[in-house]
Amino acid sequence: MRPFHASDTDAVVALWQASELTRPWNDPRKDIARKLTTQPELFLVAETDSGLRGAVMAGYDGHRGWVNYLAVDPSARGHGLGRALMAEVEQRLEALGCPKVNLQIREGNEPVMEFYRALGYARDGAVSFGKRLIADS
Ligand SMILES: CC(C)(COP(=O)(O)OP(=O)(O)OC[C@H]1O[C@@H](n2cnc3c(N)ncnc32)[C@H](O)[C@@H]1OP(=O)(O)O)[C@@H](O)C(=O)NCCC(=O)NCCS
Repeated sequence: MRPFHASDTDAVVALWQASELTRPWNDPRKDIARKLTTQPELFLVAETDSGLRGAVMAGYDGHRGWVNYLAVDPSARGHGLGRALMAEVEQRLEALGCPKVNLQIREGNEPVMEFYRALGYARDGAVSFGKRLIADS
């Protein structure tokens, strides 16, 4: 596991696409470029002998840690890579003094909820609101 390098861009975009994390309103290359300006050390990739197989993007805003774009290649799932990526991110966030990690799961994505429950996460009593400031398209 190591921080993302610019040369990982194509592999990470392909991973996110294979993991169905991309959406028309989020340009993944713009998301990567933005992340490289803010806590790039919290953008991690997992490399195995067969290449890049996982990635996760995290950040600490001084109150909460946030996790986005966690993905493990479909061919590598079920072997602990997702858990390992989250453990690494949690360790790095805690080292910054971050007291709690938040993340968003798309409504109806029950399997991913089970994954996070297995890692000790629980549903918060909050509804997520958002407001777009910069349109990607
Ligand atoms: C979610 C994801 C990252 C999990 O990666 P993974 O490497 O397969 O997960 P792990 O093998 O580390 O599993 C960790 C634990 O979660 C559980 N788990 C993983 N996927 C699960 C599923 N679909 N249903 C139920 N439990 C699951 C495992 O049983 C395991 O439990 P254990 O360690 O107690 O045995 C992967 O499925 C993925 O990339 N999904 C598509 C992208 C996505 O939706 N990302 C989340 C965005 S919020």
